[in-house]
Amino acid sequence: MDHATEVRIINELLEFEEQRTTDMAGQDREHHNPVAAYTDPERLDAELDRIWYRRPMAVAHIAEFPSAGSFKTLEVGKVPILVVRGKDDRIRAFVNVCRHRGTVLVEDECGKANAFACPYHAWTFGQDGALRHVPDDFGFPGVAADKSEFGLRELWSQVHAGFVYVQADGNAPEHELVDWLDEVGSDLQGLGLDDYVALAPSTVRHPVNWKLPFDIFLENYHTKFTHRSTIYPVFLSNVAKFDAFGPHIRCVLPRREITELRHIDESKWDLVEQSTLLYVVWPNTMIAVLPEHAAVWHVYPDGVGHTRMNFYALVARRLYESESEKETWEKSLKVVQKVKREDAERFLSIQRGLDSGANPALTFGRYEKAIAWFHQSIEAAITEAPAPSSTH
Ligand code: FES
Ligand SMILES: [Fe+2]
Repeated sequence: MDHATEVRIINELLEFEEQRTTDMAGQDREHHNPVAAYTDPERLDAELDRIWYRRPMAVAHIAEFPSAGSFKTLEVGKVPILVVRGKDDRIRAFVNVCRHRGTVLVEDECGKANAFACPYHAWTFGQDGALRHVPDDFGFPGVAADKSEFGLRELWSQVHAGFVYVQADGNAPEHELVDWLDEVGSDLQGLGLDDYVALAPSTVRHPVNWKLPFDIFLENYHTKFTHRSTIYPVFLSNVAKFDAFGPHIRCVLPRREITELRHIDESKWDLVEQSTLLYVVWPNTMIAVLPEHAAVWHVYPDGVGHTRMNFYALVARRLYESESEKETWEKSLKVVQKVKREDAERFLSIQRGLDSGANPALTFGRYEKAIAWFHQSIEAAITEAPAPSSTH
């Protein structure tokens, strides 16, 4: 983000703080989101078909692939995916399915391997996806004659600003990735996250619709109540600046000390120091950026009522390698984990509320407009209606 944008955002936040208000949708602009959007299996089918299989999405950070053979697996809808760094250093993505009779090739979530042998009959694939070995290949004269036809099916993938993007349908995305990511991409690039290390990875399956964690992520109206003893003492309550770039979202949540900038020359203002930047790299990734740290979630639907959340923390290499800073970032990660648990309690509870039938729709207030934006973008992609126009 250029400094002029930082200054503009900080000035808006200071104005909000002074006026005791925040970034809001226009008058009478509450948004009602039908509960069926979270509970209807047909709606999930439409989301998979129109969004999940057809859009580039961030699935990993390059630090998860420190050397040749480092791999990670994930599933986008019905497509199991294997992401692996090759000997040539390139990170590639493949459909994680054996070309013999279709067994899922790699079950581990992550690891390191010289080659990938199928558990069923040990057809073996290289880090570049090529079929290397077929036991007793005299039974497969056609395959033995031309193994190149039987490599793993490769998917489009690309690295940008330290994140690995994949598209699950095997096609290249409709737009160049940098164009698709818009200002969110240039922000991430500017933050230098590509030189961070990834720590504390976990993948948890929660009994909730995939959109609920985004609803929780995209407003700070709840900070005072849900995070009372963790981050409420540090952050201004219900003051935020929201921008959308296509379907992608940036929300800036200011720390309390941002008000001190009123007495400091604008040329010294630093937005990252004074806030948490929340990004939704649509449709599946949430990134919370703190000074020299970040928390990342890649979210995947697993049926309409279940979600797999792949989490990791990022820490700037400088911080990670400094013994004297260890305590600082370890403490910071503990807070992140606690906040994560507090939020999870809420979305688990909301799903129970949705399933109860108590509400025909959920209501998003004017200052919860980032959530409305998120859902409108999904709706627009499903119905192929024009997306709501950006706010920048
Ligand atoms: S299904 Fe993989 S080797 Fe047979
Ligand atoms: Fe929260």
